[in-house]
Amino acid sequence: MTATQNPTHAREEFERAESRTAHNYHPLPVVVSHAEGAWMWDVDGRRYLDLLAGYSALNFGHSHPGLIAAAHAQLDQLTLTSRAFVHDRFADFCAALGDLCGKDLVLPMNTGAEAVETAIKVSRKWGYEVKGVPADQAKIIVAAGNFHGRTTTIVGFSDDPDARDGFGPFTPGFVTVPYGDLAAIEAAIDANTVAVLIEPIQGEGGIVIPPDGYLRGIRDLCTQHDVLFAADEIQAGLGRTGKTFACDHEDVVPDIYILGKALGGGIVPVSAIVADRDVLGVLRPGQHGSTFGGNPLACAVGLTVVEMLRTGEHQARAAELGILLRERLETMLGHGVVGVRTRGLWAGVDVDPAIGTGRMVCEALMARGVLAKDTHGSTIRLAPPLVTSSEDLLWGLDQLEAVVSSA
Ligand SMILES: Cc1ncc(COP(=O)(O)O)c(C=O)c1O
Repeated sequence: MTATQNPTHAREEFERAESRTAHNYHPLPVVVSHAEGAWMWDVDGRRYLDLLAGYSALNFGHSHPGLIAAAHAQLDQLTLTSRAFVHDRFADFCAALGDLCGKDLVLPMNTGAEAVETAIKVSRKWGYEVKGVPADQAKIIVAAGNFHGRTTTIVGFSDDPDARDGFGPFTPGFVTVPYGDLAAIEAAIDANTVAVLIEPIQGEGGIVIPPDGYLRGIRDLCTQHDVLFAADEIQAGLGRTGKTFACDHEDVVPDIYILGKALGGGIVPVSAIVADRDVLGVLRPGQHGSTFGGNPLACAVGLTVVEMLRTGEHQARAAELGILLRERLETMLGHGVVGVRTRGLWAGVDVDPAIGTGRMVCEALMARGVLAKDTHGSTIRLAPPLVTSSEDLLWGLDQLEAVVSSA
């Protein structure tokens, strides 16, 4: 598509969109009309390399042929039954996802926040019915700097003022400890603690990687004190870090996997919690649900995602490209970049505040045909689709270097 074939002007379209939407986002002034693999095109035909991948929801790239084919085929068959009836894609999806996680049972939802809410409800119910915590006394330990979604319960245990302020009163029952601090978790655990809920790597927080041994330590503490380890792998999981789950880096299996984003292949919202029968078995009919959770289209796409992950090919690709990413970013240290954290194909890049804000860097990148997202003022989060070619990745990083070193 070229500008002459499509006379729409991105700027006008952007302003039209902004004028009719709540300003709960501050998007870059780009209006995308189609995309393929790691590339997006705007309404004027300009091409951009996607270094965000829908916050990891597009791990397999835009318009992945296998995922699109699965969605198309399912659209012609059946799209929704509700869970009042069982459909013929449900068993395969739940079995495949359960097997990928090495767990008995799957509870499908739609968005990440719903999956986190589900994990909270299940942990509390498990606490009362299995652990024997007195009614309404259940306590869940969370980490400072967390991001688990936007519902009122979840923002209530966020320490980000933007996410939290003005939305109270909040749900009680959460205790916040510093991220990466095992001793703080141990000190916070008491007889009423039902779960430790953490991100194995904090994504929204700026790709914050905990010290080695942290996840293993949480696993051991949880086992020792009869507490559930609920790992929010919504952004970190499903191939992004070079392994299926970020917990795999420490050979750790949580009690509850919380999954979302890439599980929907960038096509539909698909989330789930996955756990063994002794945990998820606490739910009975009427106690939790979702009209759209586990719908046939979601299951068809989700099953294809799981099948793709089963080969290990995408995880290997993330690991391989991740080496290039880290090496190239490290050359920028001291040249406009003051910090780099990577795991697999995922990076937090702290730009020197002297050269401008993260937002300014992202705007300059956009002008060079690269789309990325800032977080927390001066950090750029890079999460390219795992299908990005090494040439394209390096070209995108050249643009970053040009922006940070010329500012
Ligand atoms: C770790 C984590 N948990 C939960 C969520 C919430 O997911 P959703 O936006 O699909 O509700 C996100 C979204 O960024 C996330 O990164």
